[in-house]
Parts: sequence; structure tokens; C-alpha cells
Amino acid sequence: MTTAKRKLDHIRICLEKEVEGPWRPFDDLSLVHRALPGIDAGDIDTGCRFLGKDLAFPFMISGMTGGHPDTKEINVNLALAAQEVGVAMGVGSQRAALERAEVEDTFSAVRDAAPKIPIVGNIGAVQLRRGGAEVIDRLAEMIDADAIAVHLNFLQESVQPEGETEAKDAIEAIRAASDRRVPIIAKETGAGISREDALSLMESGVEIIDVGGLGGTSWSGVEAYRAEERSDIESAKMGRIFWNWGIPTPVSVIECACVGASVVSSGGVRSGIDIAKSIALGASLAGAALPFLAPATEGPYGVAEALRVYERALRTAMFLTATKSISDLGSAPILVFGRTREFLEQRGFDPRKFAIHREMSR
Ligand SMILES: Cc1cc2nc3c(=O)[nH]c(=O)nc-3n(C[C@H](O)[C@H](O)[C@H](O)COP(=O)(O)O)c2cc1C
Repeated sequence: MTTAKRKLDHIRICLEKEVEGPWRPFDDLSLVHRALPGIDAGDIDTGCRFLGKDLAFPFMISGMTGGHPDTKEINVNLALAAQEVGVAMGVGSQRAALERAEVEDTFSAVRDAAPKIPIVGNIGAVQLRRGGAEVIDRLAEMIDADAIAVHLNFLQESVQPEGETEAKDAIEAIRAASDRRVPIIAKETGAGISREDALSLMESGVEIIDVGGLGGTSWSGVEAYRAEERSDIESAKMGRIFWNWGIPTPVSVIECACVGASVVSSGGVRSGIDIAKSIALGASLAGAALPFLAPATEGPYGVAEALRVYERALRTAMFLTATKSISDLGSAPILVFGRTREFLEQRGFDPRKFAIHREMSR
């Protein structure tokens, strides 16, 4: 099967099937309501900087697609909306364009549609190891990228019969590619990144980590559907067994932020409240993919509208937590309950640290 055909299957399955898990870790979190915010809603500034550029609010559309002629329109619609609203955008894996130059425009069209925003390229760690560090420059040039996300998706690869599971030298490939013209973002795709791996990544020169945690799109789930369609019963069972595998996104944010990484919180971020919760846990930015896929098949307007609802809910959450800026929001108290709390405690974190206003606790 070609890379491009597989990508089309992924999009179709994400549009047609239930690809998320039953558990929403963000529901285990609660910001503390302030009846007397002491600020006017109109004074709130949601703006921030990412990769040297200004954003209207700390958000990116996570990388999804490109690589087949039919995906160009989706990418352009996402880019037009991201540019209009003022958020960052990632493209899907550019591997297909390395294999077939004629599909490059399904990626480069993103920069044409969005000249001002940060754009993040994308490649798998296995392809990076094969292609060498120079691949980063090629990918960046193709779309005039501000950074390249190197995705770590060994769960998905393990469920695919054609999956590439040579992970031994991935960290060396990342280290070798960490001083190119644009920075690397290490990125999971739905199973999260632990403190141990965040430390290795930081020691290898990576400063930004997109946690891609558990709680949103399950790539094991997507592969289960694909396997069922071709009657590969064994892989379908594997996909279902590993459907809910991984580190919940809020936990992964804390695991990566505690070692000093600049963190993108993604995996199940489904509203502006989830962005606010992510920032309060220590993320610099949040991202989401799946919620924008269906509107992007129709045009840019639905994507822009969805982004505006994210922005408005973030702004409202900031008003109701008495936080005037994104940096204030970073020290807002946040409570952690249930399974997410247990996960954190067993990993040696004290969730109560987040429940007190951090300014007061110092
Ligand atoms: C249709 C689709 C295609 C995706 N393709 C890629 C990809 O090529 N590279 C990558 O790093 N992540 C890819 N992802 C993963 C997302 O970037 C993101 O990490 C993951 O879906 C979790 O976010 P979500 O729960 O908001 O969807 C894709 C996601 C979707 C929905």
C-alpha cells in the first residue's frame, strides 16, 4: 500500500467512525471559579508568541494531512482559517512528498494560504533516521516552515502489519537533526510522552515537545478499523487491545513541563476550557486535530468558526479565573481528580501543588 493511499484511508476513517476513547482526562480537571474576577473581560489579552510569531491565542491546528492530491483542499481550508484567526498550523507527514515530488504542492499550498502564521512541518522519526538530518532542511524549505515536528508513533506502527518499528536509533537521529535551520518539535500522536523520554529529548537538543497524549484520537483505534476493512483479524484485535494505551494528556503535560520543555498540549483538547487547563498545568500552547477535519472538508468558514469558539471559551475561562494574560493563567489554581490524579500521584507528582494559587504558594 502506498503512503498516500494509507493517508486517505486515515482521513476517511476519522470522518466516518468513532475514533476517540471513552475517557476524557480533561474532565478530571477543574479550574477555580472566581465570583469577583476583579478585571473587566475587555482587558483580557489572550495573545502569545510561538516560534517567533504573534498568535491571537495559544493554539495550533495539529498536523493531519497532505501527500495525496485530494488532501490539498483540506490543508488549504485549514490554513486559510488559521491565518484569519491567527493561530499556528501543522501539516501531516511530508513523507509522501519525499517519495513523490509531484505531491509537494499539497503541503506548500499551506504557506501560500497562510503567509504570516507559524507553520510546522512533519516527518516520522524512522524516516528522519533513514533520510538523515538534511531531511529537516528539505522539509522546511518545501513549506517555508517555522519548525519541523518529528512524530513518534510507535504504538500505531506496532498495530499496522506494515508498521516500521525500528526505534533503537530514533533518539540519535533526533540529536543529529537538532541544530538545523529550524527547530525540531518532538511529537507523539495520541499516547503521550513521559518525563523519562522528555529528559532524553531535552538532552538531545529538543526544546519543544508536543505531548500528543491519550484522551483524543486513538491511532490504535484507527488502525483497528483499517485492519477490519481488509479482514486482518489479528491486527484488528491488536488495535482494539491497545485502543486506550498511553499517558493521559494532562499528565504528559506535567511530565514534560517539569523537565523544562516548552510544551504543546494536544490529544483530546476539545474546547477553550481545555486550552486554559493546559496552560494552568504548564503548557505554552495547546493543539487539536480531529475537531477541524470534518469542517475542513467543507471550506475554511466552519474551521474559522470552530477556532473562534475555542478562543471565546478560553477568554471566558480566563475572565472567570481572574487571569488577565496567558502568563497569569499559567499560575491559576487547578484541581485534579479521579484517574488523572491517581496517575500523577503514582508517578511521584503532588497534584495539590496545582490546587493553590502558585503566586501564594511561593
Ligand atoms: C486525520 C488525521 C491525520 C493525522 N496525521 C498525522 C500525521 O501525519 N503526523 C502526525 O504527527 N500526526 C498526525 N495526526 C495526529 C494529530 O496531529 C494529533 O497528534 C492527534 O490526532 C491527537 O489530537 P486530537 O485528539 O485533537 O485529534 C493525525 C490526526 C488526524 C485526525
